[in-house]
Amino acid sequence: MEHLTTEGRAPAADAKRRQEFLDLLCAWNDAFAASSGRRRKAFLHTYGCQMNEHDSETLLGMLLAAGFEEATDQNEADLILFNTCCVREHAQTRVYGNVGALAKRKLEQPGLLLGVCGCMMQQKEVSAALYKRFPFVDLVFGTHALPDFPALLYRAAVLGERVFDGRGEESVPEGLPICRKKGASAFVTIMYGCNNFCSYCIVPYVRGRERSRAPEDILKEVKGLVKEGYTEVTLLGQNVNSYGKDRAGNGCTFPELLRLLNSVEGLERLRFMTSHPKDLSDGLISAMAECERVCKHIHLPVQSGSDEILRRMNRHYTASDYAQLVKKLRASVPGIEISTDIIVGFPGETEEDFEATLRLVEDVGFCAAYTFMYSPRIGTPAASWPNQIPDDVKHERLARLNALQAKKCVENNEKYIGTVQEVLVEGCDEREGQNAFGKTSAFKMIYFPGDESLIGKMLKVKVTKARSNSLLGEACTESVK
Ligand code: SAH
Ligand code: SF4
Ligand code: F3S
Repeated sequence: MEHLTTEGRAPAADAKRRQEFLDLLCAWNDAFAASSGRRRKAFLHTYGCQMNEHDSETLLGMLLAAGFEEATDQNEADLILFNTCCVREHAQTRVYGNVGALAKRKLEQPGLLLGVCGCMMQQKEVSAALYKRFPFVDLVFGTHALPDFPALLYRAAVLGERVFDGRGEESVPEGLPICRKKGASAFVTIMYGCNNFCSYCIVPYVRGRERSRAPEDILKEVKGLVKEGYTEVTLLGQNVNSYGKDRAGNGCTFPELLRLLNSVEGLERLRFMTSHPKDLSDGLISAMAECERVCKHIHLPVQSGSDEILRRMNRHYTASDYAQLVKKLRASVPGIEISTDIIVGFPGETEEDFEATLRLVEDVGFCAAYTFMYSPRIGTPAASWPNQIPDDVKHERLARLNALQAKKCVENNEKYIGTVQEVLVEGCDEREGQNAFGKTSAFKMIYFPGDESLIGKMLKVKVTKARSNSLLGEACTESVK
């Protein structure tokens, strides 16, 4: 079987080849189960964004299809896989620490398989250094090799090779097995990669160019999810607003995709992330206003309130362009909530630049802001610019920004007291006094007395109290739907 060659770099993945390796791994795992009376277990560590979380759902899907069981605890695992992120230094340091800590365990349990994959491993120098520094790691591969995971795992697990795959070819994989979290909500990737090259960001280097999935494949996946019982879908892409641009004449735009999916019978809620302000079109705003299943929330990262910093970040909008967009969104989609990402301490950021960010946060009134200290990423333009901001200044600015946003969050949440909200119940939390929890269409988390039987239901909940990051309430009826 020529295509089962394990020599050199694995060729591009295809479904048939993948299935053959999954079958081989299954046979290997079945033989182990027959002789030991138990199945091998796999444990996944996931770092980073929703994109990575969803990649881990795909990795787990492939592992289950290869005859592994999921381990709930790393200590009982026969295979440990780290799906890494490199967007900030901190994410990378944690990976080095956690992988390094397994050196001793590998000595005690030589059959243990260790793998490291994801964005951090798509950076050539970093993956090569990790491969060298941790000789006990069996398998290293980047984001582009993910569809070929069964073949790589076969080489490491069954043939006992040390495997490294940092391939650069980009694909739009279809038909991979996915094991999603139980519940009402599912992630669906609509596009891979990013073309924006914001001057601080590593993502375009590790996720490659924008590649959109065909609308018919997305529609099929969403319909399948509804059949399985999911009622909420979150569409994923680094910049969903440019969905379809790479498929000229052979697909549709993002607003058209929203309208298409809005018609899926049985789907209650449709969310998406992330939107880049420079590409947020009037067409998208009208689609949000007119599609009843599209939720009243948008994540719209602003990054900074200073025009000069935005220019150097390569963001292609000004603070007043952003304010205009917010105005349009609020006028067209009443009740919409807007969340954002903000970086403090970008190279050259002056006190005045930072104060412009504080003003923007004060004026817009975000429902949530994910705030970060600028972290230089090797290979990105801004990392080599002069005027890097000292850490103590970054810390001080972050603390001021967070204090302001915490105040804005409470103010924003207080407007909900006394209102009745439709909530899709996601789970129960013992730390929250056995309360059930779920989100409103506008992405507000509400806790209220309830039990596990409510999970997946859509309930009307009266808001009684506002906290900084969530609301408290009482269910006022049986399920709405
Ligand atoms: N595609 C999305 C998400 C990118 S990563 C978007 O464009 O919004 C998520 C967030 O991480 C970014 O919005 C940005 O605020 C932050 N980020 C990216 N690179 C960073 C860096 N080098 N240092 C600090 N924060 C960074
Ligand atoms: Fe990074 Fe900018 Fe692309 Fe977002 S849009 S992933 S911040 S380069
Ligand atoms: Fe996401 Fe981190 Fe990669 S933020 S795209 S996992 S670098």
